[in-house]
Amino acid sequence: MAGIHFQTVRKIFGKTTVIKDISLEIKDGEFMVLLGPSGCGKTTMLRCLAGLEHVDGGKVFIGDRDVTDLAPRDRKIAMVFQSYAVFPHLTVFDNIAFGLQMQNRPKDEIKRRVDQGAELLQLTDYLKRYPAQLSGGQRQRVAVARAIVMEAAVLLMDEPLSNLDALLRMQMRAELKRLHSEIKATTIYVTHDQIEALSLGDRIAVMQSGDIVQCDVPMNIYDYPASTFIGGFIGTPPMNFLKGTVRSENGSSIVAVGESKISPSAKLSSALATKSGQSILLGIRPENLALVAAQQPNTIRAHVLVVEPLGSHKLLTMKIGDELAKVSVAPDQPVGPNDDVWLHFDADKIRWMDVANGQAILA
Ligand SMILES: Nc1ncnc2c1ncn2[C@@H]1O[C@H](COP(=O)(O)OP(=O)(O)OP(=O)(O)O)[C@@H](O)[C@H]1O
Ligand SMILES: [Mg+2]
Repeated sequence: MAGIHFQTVRKIFGKTTVIKDISLEIKDGEFMVLLGPSGCGKTTMLRCLAGLEHVDGGKVFIGDRDVTDLAPRDRKIAMVFQSYAVFPHLTVFDNIAFGLQMQNRPKDEIKRRVDQGAELLQLTDYLKRYPAQLSGGQRQRVAVARAIVMEAAVLLMDEPLSNLDALLRMQMRAELKRLHSEIKATTIYVTHDQIEALSLGDRIAVMQSGDIVQCDVPMNIYDYPASTFIGGFIGTPPMNFLKGTVRSENGSSIVAVGESKISPSAKLSSALATKSGQSILLGIRPENLALVAAQQPNTIRAHVLVVEPLGSHKLLTMKIGDELAKVSVAPDQPVGPNDDVWLHFDADKIRWMDVANGQAILA
């Protein structure tokens, strides 16, 4: 079996520690996404696992094997690189066969495996062509096919869709998902595209500056981001963050936002008891805010600045006190710019964050 275990892995380039003692366990057959902004260490994590970088601390396991000191070829890993190199002078067949030929596999086995891989990635009709005669998406599929015909137990993909336009990306995303359900290789997929991460991952490990700051199933990352960084990185538009002040009222805590007040869930109310008088951030997703006809509990007065009809919904830019917030409403909601409205907060969906360090205050 080929689960993967990073055990306090550290990587240093020059004087910079780019992987900061990361521990991460990936189950056999799991599709794990590494998500994070440029330069946070995603590719380096893959390269440490593949043996293309030696680690400066910690260990790497594949299944039960400690592979920390093994050469790349002994690790039984297939990798699709960030700049998906296909060889222009080789046909699609020879491109896909490349790794197998390097291993001096018998000719008939190579043909059988390339044919299989080509079929999985819908390249059967293109095997005799050269990369220059393919679309970008087809070339990308060649790179993926070349990796999967290795039948490695571990498949690493580094932003394999980054060179495609939006429509092709969406198609390939679904294809990769189908592919994984067929080949079931333990997969680590690197991306800085949060939609890809939500769509593909069994779990997502969110990275920031060489650390994993949250690792969970996609909807938990979306609904319960561990910090303002994560709430702001995931979701289009990102989570809103409004400033409030904790107050004590009739023995329980409420949060004053401008003239209005929001009641946290009972559980959190007690957690906030010690914070009376302090500032707090209220994190809420655009779809968890609603326009209502009249004031009611957990509503705030807001002013509509911009209305963007986006087909499936309308996106509103609102002014709440001095702050801006994005609100997503149904496409037929009657609302126009300069309207003053009541905005209702779904209290169960609010993520309260510490102003000083941006970390979630857990309920
Ligand atoms: N060979 C190297 N020598 C020195 N520094 C490096 C080397 N490779 C990577 N780095 C640095 O390590 C950090 C992490 O790089 P890495 O390529 O892992 O980032 P990434 O998350 O994959 O980013 P991107 O999304 O842009 O591909 C960066 O600050 C980068 O400049
Ligand atoms: Mg990278």
